[in-house]
Amino acid sequence: MSGAEGIVSTPLDPVGHALFDAAGPQLRVVANFAVGTDNIDFDAARGRGIVITNTPDVLTAATAELAFGLLLSLVRRIGEGDRLLRRGEQWGWSTSFMLGTGLQGLRLGVLGYGRIGREFGRLAEAHGMTVVPMRTLDGLEEMDVLSVHCPLKPETHHLIDAAAFARMKPSAFLVNSSRGPVVDEAALVDALAQGQIAGAALDVFEREPEVTEALLGFENVVLTPHLGSATVETRLGMGRLCVEALHAVLLEGRDPANRVG
Ligand code: 8YV
Repeated sequence: MSGAEGIVSTPLDPVGHALFDAAGPQLRVVANFAVGTDNIDFDAARGRGIVITNTPDVLTAATAELAFGLLLSLVRRIGEGDRLLRRGEQWGWSTSFMLGTGLQGLRLGVLGYGRIGREFGRLAEAHGMTVVPMRTLDGLEEMDVLSVHCPLKPETHHLIDAAAFARMKPSAFLVNSSRGPVVDEAALVDALAQGQIAGAALDVFEREPEVTEALLGFENVVLTPHLGSATVETRLGMGRLCVEALHAVLLEGRDPANRVG
């Protein structure tokens, strides 16, 4: 990064003093290729007058769709069925074979009701779910599904912990497509092992790209490797926003559209 005036960072790059020192004093802008900004040390950037931008809106639909796909896969056991067929196991249709849970009438708690949470709620409503926006864990006991869409901040780190799992219905499902550390992964493993919840679907992990090995052993767990924004059009849109931010600061000397710091 030495000599860079602008940098495009990803959510796994810590953006703070070490990066700024490596780049040098000419660094003026960091465009984060993500809407999440938990990898950014905003105080450090402010102290050096470095502009920070993110990529909102262009990934809202893609991320909500992926979260909804995880939910469907979980409740209708799609991943589990796929694995069964690939193992070449004997199977036969019967009235009670691999029954899942329908979405109609389920109560969905959307934790973090911002752009992505709202879009997820819209998709869920279209599938007959009752959507409950959640700013806190109040009412967690009543939820059939909890979907996490809040940003990672000190106050949301391990928000879903052992105490939260103990409050959930044993028939409840957890979906996380925001940031891994919002969920205490060790507590999740315990909750699944004890049948405190019915299953979980995760696109994000506490120590990415590492995945807690015990999660791999549960049939009622669906896992994807941080694919929330991974569509061609969305990634092009994100890239465009990053380039526009660099262009605005470095070539036009103006404030970029998606400045967050
Ligand atoms: C990643 C994301 O940025 O926007 C976010 O906050 O987590 C994703 O869109 C993307 O996967 C690139 O790593």
